Amino acid sequence: MRRIACFGGVYNNYRALEAVCKDAKGRGIDELYCLGDMGAFGPSPDKVFPILKQFKVICLKGNYDDSVSRNLSDCQCGYTDPQDNHFAHLSYDYTLSHTSEDNKRFLATLPETLSLEIDGVRILLCHGSPRRVNEFLWESSTPTHLLKSFCKQNNVDVILATHTGLHWQRDLGDGELFANVGVIGRPANDGLTNVWYSIVSVDKKGSLPSRVEIEFVPLEYDYQLLAEEMRQENIPKEFVDSILSGWWTTCLEVLPYKERVSGKF
Ligand SMILES: [Fe+2]
Repeated sequence: MRRIACFGGVYNNYRALEAVCKDAKGRGIDELYCLGDMGAFGPSPDKVFPILKQFKVICLKGNYDDSVSRNLSDCQCGYTDPQDNHFAHLSYDYTLSHTSEDNKRFLATLPETLSLEIDGVRILLCHGSPRRVNEFLWESSTPTHLLKSFCKQNNVDVILATHTGLHWQRDLGDGELFANVGVIGRPANDGLTNVWYSIVSVDKKGSLPSRVEIEFVPLEYDYQLLAEEMRQENIPKEFVDSILSGWWTTCLEVLPYKERVSGKF
């Protein structure tokens, strides 16, 4: 059996990044994949990059990374609500102005998608969706036929994405699977302070999809120290509150009804 660890949305949360890398290594998993968005709500963007390099994390370029690497004026997060965009701008302006030129150049080199083949299982890693880096694929509103069409168009059995901040998976039938691997930068809007990453296991024997297992792993890290550093950096209180409470306080107008009512705000 071969296992890989996948996560997205670091959002400057270098403390969770270090924790996830150590947790995966502690489980004997050496292949780590970050599906993009290194920056956003948290403090000190440049602290993320040495950890990515230390643990040899293979990275994709998210919408945030594309914007930062090109000094764009907007994070391309895909929000449409003015309140979402207001807060997105605050975190983006902070991240852009605190990311070194070296790290911007690194972000520019990252690919938007990555294809893997593990014991004959074809896996596509992407950020939003295979067709658009900032597409939101929500569990409640994404039809199975769309996900199956992505598998067919890309000639893969499994698609892994992130971007929304909420992890979920679906057996698409015919041996195909989709998963949102979650984000490690902020909690999953469930009132818990842990974040989530995914372990993808591929068994050499058996048939698809049963020989592929995607496990969502709750990850504890020192969120109180992160919150303290956010305060020191004068990062908006709303972002700190999310880290401390586990509930999203901003950038949630984009949520579909079902995902919205399961949150607090
Ligand atoms: Fe994103």
